[in-house]
Amino acid sequence: MASKLQFLLFSTLLLFSTSFITNAQPSFRPRALVLSITKDPSVLQYLAIVSQRTPLASINTVVDLGGQFLWVDCEQFYVSSSYTPARCGSAQCSLARSTSCGTCNSPAGPGCNNNTCGLFPENTVTNTVTSGELAQDVLALPSTNGRNPGPVVSIPRLLFTCAPSFLLDGLASGVRGMAGLGRAPIGLPSQFAAAFSFNRKFAICLPSTTAANGVIFFGNTPYTMQPNIDISTGLTYTPLLINPVSTAGVSTQGERSTEYFIGVKSIKVNEKAISLNTSLLSIQSNGFGGTKISTINPYTVLETSIYKAVTETFVREANLSRVASVAPLEFCYDSRNFGSTRVGPAVPSIDLVLQSESVFWRISGANSMVQIRENVLCLGFVDGGSEPRTSIVIGGHQLEDNLLQFDLATSRLGFSSSLLGRQTSCSNFNFTSNA
Ligand SMILES: *[C@@H]1O[C@H](CO)[C@@H](O)[C@H](O)[C@H]1NC(C)=O
Ligand SMILES: *[C@@H]1O[C@H](CO)[C@@H](O)[C@H](O)[C@H]1NC(C)=O
Ligand SMILES: *[C@@H]1O[C@H](CO)[C@@H](O)[C@H](O)[C@H]1NC(C)=O
Ligand SMILES: *[C@@H]1O[C@H](CO)[C@@H](O)[C@H](O)[C@H]1NC(C)=O
Repeated sequence: MASKLQFLLFSTLLLFSTSFITNAQPSFRPRALVLSITKDPSVLQYLAIVSQRTPLASINTVVDLGGQFLWVDCEQFYVSSSYTPARCGSAQCSLARSTSCGTCNSPAGPGCNNNTCGLFPENTVTNTVTSGELAQDVLALPSTNGRNPGPVVSIPRLLFTCAPSFLLDGLASGVRGMAGLGRAPIGLPSQFAAAFSFNRKFAICLPSTTAANGVIFFGNTPYTMQPNIDISTGLTYTPLLINPVSTAGVSTQGERSTEYFIGVKSIKVNEKAISLNTSLLSIQSNGFGGTKISTINPYTVLETSIYKAVTETFVREANLSRVASVAPLEFCYDSRNFGSTRVGPAVPSIDLVLQSESVFWRISGANSMVQIRENVLCLGFVDGGSEPRTSIVIGGHQLEDNLLQFDLATSRLGFSSSLLGRQTSCSNFNFTSNA
């Protein structure tokens, strides 16, 4: 793994530096941007490398779909001639909705300046929050025509938050921060769209393997995967809902959540409706309940009564003898008992039914079952306890090899269900640059 990571860092640096020299076109305006995503095999986090600072450095980050902004460790290894702290009362502070103004008694440097406004960077894996300086620096990433990476483009003053090194605890090895793709004015999708005047849209396509990269697109379609399939077509759409109560570790009264919620109305297993306490499915006025999408939880987390109803029906419908549980997954089977289909092992389907009976997100075997070891497959859902903040958290395993397109302007989610059914996958983007 160490050598693979080094290779990745090296190749990304190489890609950026060569593209920079040969494509210094100030007038070039990209229609979309692209980032590659890897999956860390030991902690099951999804990682993306961005280029930041002057001179550019490759910064490995954990992708946090609902995260409020980019935060990076400024305490160690932050060297940049273009680092600019956000001064109290500036337009940057109000865009970021910062209400604090700070001083710093340690030696001045990135993350430690007087008269700067601050925010609360959060490690959403460990639920640790601290305070940090709001700042701006150069960020560079490849543009795309939807088919290959193109010229690298840079944003001279991207807003992010500095954090102390301890906030990295619990993140994958080599990671220096978290890339927040949430619905906030300084979330990366909004800043990228503003920098290049493209639509406030982005799409994630998580890899199902640690051996090949997935992809995030920012901006306009097409999103073409090999063999020449535009996966942005044929999506099913559902409204994105706003939770009126912030789900962040620190927030002010009246602040909305930056996470992405959808309206699951019922759940079917093997096309049979299961009976649920439907009040858990809507977002309550105190911000509890509802369904959100997360790249931080490796598996889907269900409130206890929903978990029991779904798993009992699944077990009954599968009608096979089980093998020992493998924590945190409870329902495991000998995989040799299942037939195989294009969309994974032949197991009962799990459908999240949305705004009408005919609109549902189908979770097939490739996304419901987790290969724990040879010949053992476990149902990839976990029990979230009896009064969780959010009743259904659709986690990483259920998102892999699915395209999810978030349109912030129309507040709409487009989803593909498993791309394996279209004979492609999230690892089929051609990352060979045509720049
Ligand atoms: C901030 O101001 C205080 C008080 O004037 C000073 O002691 C301190 O060194 C300053 N810190 C930085 C980082 O400039
Ligand atoms: C259904 O869920 C709501 C919200 O958690 C709870 O107040 C209520 O008691 C539940 N109803 C039943 C029948 O369990
Ligand atoms: C479950 O499997 C058993 C043994 O193979 C079979 O006899 C039974 O009919 C099955 N039940 C259902 C509901 O399919
Ligand atoms: C990937 O893209 C490169 C650059 O456009 C192209 O030369 C190559 O043929 C493509 N690979 C495949 C397998 O299509």
